Amino acid sequence: MKLPTKVEKALNDQINLELSSAYAYLGMAAYFDSTPFTGFAAWMKAQAQEELGHVDRFYRYIVERNGKVALKAIAEPKCEYKSPLDAFQAALKHEQTVSASICSLYELAAAEKDYPTVSLLKWFIDEQVEEESNTGEMVAKLELIGENRNGLFHLDHRAGERGKES
Ligand code: FEO
Repeated sequence: MKLPTKVEKALNDQINLELSSAYAYLGMAAYFDSTPFTGFAAWMKAQAQEELGHVDRFYRYIVERNGKVALKAIAEPKCEYKSPLDAFQAALKHEQTVSASICSLYELAAAEKDYPTVSLLKWFIDEQVEEESNTGEMVAKLELIGENRNGLFHLDHRAGERGKES
C-alpha cells in the first residue's frame, strides 16, 4: 500500500503543526515561569512533551509507510500573556485548530482510500477530544476563579501535579 503523495504532504504539514504546538506550549511555559505560577508552567511543559510525542507518532508512521519525512520551519511562539486565563484560552484555541486539522487529514485519507492512515488518525481524533477537554476544564476553572488569589494558588498547585506525572 503506497502512501498517497497528497496524504504524505498533509502528514508532513501535521508534523509541522504538532511541532509548532510544542513550541507554543513552551512559550506559554516561559510566560508562567516569569510569574509565581510554577504549577501552570509545569502543566504547559508537560503539554509540550505530549506534542513531541505526537510528532514522533506521525514521523514513525511516515517512515513505516516508506514515505519521506519533510521538516519545515516553525514560527516564533508567543511568550507573553495577560493572565493565566489568557494563556489557557490561547491553548484551547490552539487545540481546536489542531482538531480541525486532524479532521481534514482524516477526510483526505478517506477520500484517497488510504485506510491505514484513516486508522492512525482515529487515535488522534480520540486524543483531541481529551486535549480539548483538559484544556477547556482549565479555562472553565480560571473563569470561575477570576481574580481570587486563593483559587489561583490552589489551581496552580493542582496543575503542577500534572507536571510530576509526566
Ligand atoms: Fe497534538 Fe495538542 O495536539
